[in-house]
Amino acid sequence: MYKTKVVIGAQWGDEGKGKISDFLAQNADVVVRYQGGNNAGHSIEFDGKRYALKHIPSGVFNPKTLNIMAQGMVINPKMLLDEMKELENKGIVNHNLVISDRAHVIFPYHLEIDSKLEELKEKKYGTKIGTTKKGIGPAYEDKYARVGIRFGDFINLKTFKSRLKETLFIKNMFLKSMGMKQYNVDEIFNEYKEYAKKLSPLVRETGLYLSKIIEEGKVVLFEGAQGVLLCIENGTYPYVTSSSPTASSVPLGTGLSPKHVLNAMGIVKSYTTRVGAGALPTEIEDEKISSHIREVGREYGTVTGRPRRIGWLDTVVLKHSIRVSGLNEIAITLIDVLDDLEEIKIGYSYNLDGKEIDFIPGSNEVYDSLKTNYITMPGWKKDITKVTSWNELPIEAQNYILKIEELIGVKITIFSVGPDRKQTIYR
Ligand code: IMP
Repeated sequence: MYKTKVVIGAQWGDEGKGKISDFLAQNADVVVRYQGGNNAGHSIEFDGKRYALKHIPSGVFNPKTLNIMAQGMVINPKMLLDEMKELENKGIVNHNLVISDRAHVIFPYHLEIDSKLEELKEKKYGTKIGTTKKGIGPAYEDKYARVGIRFGDFINLKTFKSRLKETLFIKNMFLKSMGMKQYNVDEIFNEYKEYAKKLSPLVRETGLYLSKIIEEGKVVLFEGAQGVLLCIENGTYPYVTSSSPTASSVPLGTGLSPKHVLNAMGIVKSYTTRVGAGALPTEIEDEKISSHIREVGREYGTVTGRPRRIGWLDTVVLKHSIRVSGLNEIAITLIDVLDDLEEIKIGYSYNLDGKEIDFIPGSNEVYDSLKTNYITMPGWKKDITKVTSWNELPIEAQNYILKIEELIGVKITIFSVGPDRKQTIYR
């Protein structure tokens, strides 16, 4: 059987995927990012150093692992080169990076349109999404409008120039109508051709390569970015990102087929966070508790630095993610952040029009109006950051994890009690 595994955020992102992917990447031949772009911020800590990855897969710290940025991604070439440089400055020189020739390029106008739309929505209706302003949505829009530029065309300078001409012909009409700066071809071409030349040696066909090595029995890890509730299809639309961070999008985002994707691990934070707008039914109203969790958990965006909104764990959300991604195991992270709490709550169902439900309605408006039903568990009030095995966990912490497992019906196989690689433990 194939040795593939998908690692997915089962909430609203920032569950600690980078840390778990890095942990699993120790044994992986290849790590693949298959959607999103530098809106992701995967933080990884070991040997006293902290790294923040944006586009680059979390296998980059294992010199034997190949890291593929696959076709479902949108990549900002300038920011990718900066990210590589930053890693080099920290001593990570062997990147082992490959970019799919079908991945799309993010250009400056994507970032500008992203910011402008947010600004207009906010001003006119007070309904901005709270995007990371990295141009992700507009880059995916161009892909689907068939005016995007793939890396395979980007690195062929003649093709790049003619595709850019065609794209800017359309884009400039839009930019003009929005009262925004328009671009001439040379302005972008002259700067971006330098990035294209630098990245050109990394660009390859990757779908065929991946299918071959999977058939040969190599270990391949697919690393999702964001989380299922930010999925364009299954998330809390419109407050979502513009790609699908689920296991279902692995085949499309990599050039493989569903038969190659059999195991999916969900990463779950022991509470819930969300950046940006949209419903969060278990949001903690008690400011003392939420700011305590935010400070202890360092819950500020890796990409934007924004404070994250804090909620209790919500098993309706987890069951939703399990269903749409076929998650067959769970890793739970950041349990130590709850160390000082007297009581810990778990949301397990909602009330809608006087009826108890355990699904997520398709309307964000309806979802936002629900009342959550909670179970309250006693806290453990002990420092668990030095724990190295399941048996060393205080009984209350074990019970908390077991209760979650009972409510979601999927085995929790890994737990983590701190940011360092060493604090990730198999149960
Ligand atoms: P975008 O992906 O920049 O378009 O942002 C859309 C929504 O997804 C916003 O609410 C962002 O805060 C959220 N988002 C995007 N990337 C991440 C991530 O890596 N972690 C958490 N939230 C994210």
